[in-house]
Amino acid sequence: MKKTIIGSMALSIALSISGAAFAADGPAVYKAKCAACHGADGQGTAMAPAFKGSEYMKTAKDAEIADVITKGREGAAKKYKQFAIGMPKQALAEDEVKAVTDHLRTLAAK
Ligand code: HEC
Repeated sequence: MKKTIIGSMALSIALSISGAAFAADGPAVYKAKCAACHGADGQGTAMAPAFKGSEYMKTAKDAEIADVITKGREGAAKKYKQFAIGMPKQALAEDEVKAVTDHLRTLAAK
């Protein structure tokens, strides 16, 4: 009986670890693909707008944000004149887009 309990505990720990490893990690995606332009804490840089306290983040729906991430916003679609470059489209899986969008919401609320 004791062995079974320990065995099932070990199994559930192993399952939760592998589950975490496969789920898209929003902060990690952000750090790797977005932070250079948008700032480590979403504070913005001379290259790209902030998420922290941003009007855009207050009103944009998740689907609109996903569109900007996957399609980019360059050329005629560009919104801000103060940034020399546009937003380059990002090659991310759907679950990564969702996870990084959740992270942008966290940064925007800070
Ligand atoms: C090479 C620099 C660069 C990288 C890398 C980058 N962005 Fe951007 N991003 C920009 C610029 C510049 C804009 C503003 C474009 C414009 O003028 O409309 C922007 C705009 C945005 C917007 C719209 C914000 C607003 O206020 O309208 C979102 C959302 C966004 N980026 C998310 C991301 C995410 C998420 C990543 C990483 C997966 C990322 N960006 C990576 C440069 C970048």
